[in-house]
Amino acid sequence: MEKLIVIGGNRLDGEVSVSGSKNAVLPIMTATMIVPGNYKINNVPNLRDTQTMIKLLRIIGAKVDYFDKTLIIDTIKCDNPSAPYELVKTMRASFYVLGPLLARFHYSKVSLPGGCAWGPRPVDFHIKALREMNVKVRLDKGDIIAEGQPHGGDIIFKKKSVGATGNILMASVKAMNETNIINAAKEPEIVALGDFLIKLGADIEGLGTDNIRVTPIKNENNNFEFDVIPDRIEAGTFMIAAATVGGNIKIKNIDPSHLDAVIELLKGINIDITINQNSFIIKSDGLYDAIDMETSEYPGFPTDLQAQWMAMMSKAKGDSIIKENIYNDRFTHIPELLRMGANIKLKNETAFIKGIEEIFPAPVMCTDIRASAALVISALASKGESEISRIYHIDRGYEGIEQKFSKLGANIKRIST
Ligand code: EPZ
Repeated sequence: MEKLIVIGGNRLDGEVSVSGSKNAVLPIMTATMIVPGNYKINNVPNLRDTQTMIKLLRIIGAKVDYFDKTLIIDTIKCDNPSAPYELVKTMRASFYVLGPLLARFHYSKVSLPGGCAWGPRPVDFHIKALREMNVKVRLDKGDIIAEGQPHGGDIIFKKKSVGATGNILMASVKAMNETNIINAAKEPEIVALGDFLIKLGADIEGLGTDNIRVTPIKNENNNFEFDVIPDRIEAGTFMIAAATVGGNIKIKNIDPSHLDAVIELLKGINIDITINQNSFIIKSDGLYDAIDMETSEYPGFPTDLQAQWMAMMSKAKGDSIIKENIYNDRFTHIPELLRMGANIKLKNETAFIKGIEEIFPAPVMCTDIRASAALVISALASKGESEISRIYHIDRGYEGIEQKFSKLGANIKRIST
């Protein structure tokens, strides 16, 4: 079992390079199965989740090589359109194979994902939309079985969903007719997936807007290279860390426009941010006022930075409120932050935070990817030694987090117990 040992109190100074986006590369990896072919994907982060997706593609029959942040994927021999429970239970994003397998085989057997650390995470939007595309969908011993060629049509999501938009986008590029996705997710990861599908030969309009129109592939392109966008959530994590701990860091390999909502809030409390074309410079003395925040779909403040933001607000000057609008119980980080002396009260989807003078070091436990990042930030901001356990959660979404923070002057190391 591995742990992180953090001795807090050091400023963060220097440069850090952001890796490729986890939430963009995972659906793109599944999209390589839509058209049998050879795909080279660059800027792929070495994460537990990308390794899990590699395993899944191999089970389906793909040949996959990974080296130097590059994936070579050969999907010509894929012949097993199913995703087993063993893998889906470790990574919900495995459910992204549903659309691509349906597009290719007109058949797909995917284990129904269970809940996660913060409760139920249904996939009813995915299933309802496929049924509206005339696909037969049934549940069989914990597996979703989907059969039939999607027909296309108008798909109206009552609530935005990144995953459902992604699955329907991928199912629709091989549909019988055109598909209109209304109230689609606008996340940069969906735009990136759409760009990959366009390279595959699909004609897609409206990516990044509420309404996306997909005209199925006429001429397939099954042999090309594709670059994965930078990970805006990793970049946001380093921005919040620098603001909270204090320091002067340059965050490189990022598209600043993906983080407008975060920049706006940080500037709102006088954190000094200089925006360049592909980088930011953040300067902070670690002293800042409290400010209220609420999460929302893109381009609003991302829920995947909510926990990190709460760690920051826990030592702000004054009181603040955080309202979580995407997942009504994404608060498993609170009990751990309380162990470090934070003063946080929770009522329904809203956390009430009273800023404290000092965060105290303590042994704490990770519960999910982003909650883990919040604990690392709090530990770096405290004065003393913290021990962070169950770090397999953090390895799912952050590539070499301790190396990156060490390079910025943090005293952080990984130990095996
Ligand atoms: C994606 O999850 C991300 N995961 C999540 O990041 C992120 O938190 C989320 O989008 C929101 O931004 C990946 O990209 C792999 P949703 P996804 O469908 O697609 C409800 C991380 O830390 N809903 O947009 O699962 C759902 O319960 C992860 O990297 C239904 O009710 O999110 C939630 O409340 C964590 N029925 C809301 O919609 C459905 O069929 C948004 O979920 C689908 C979703």
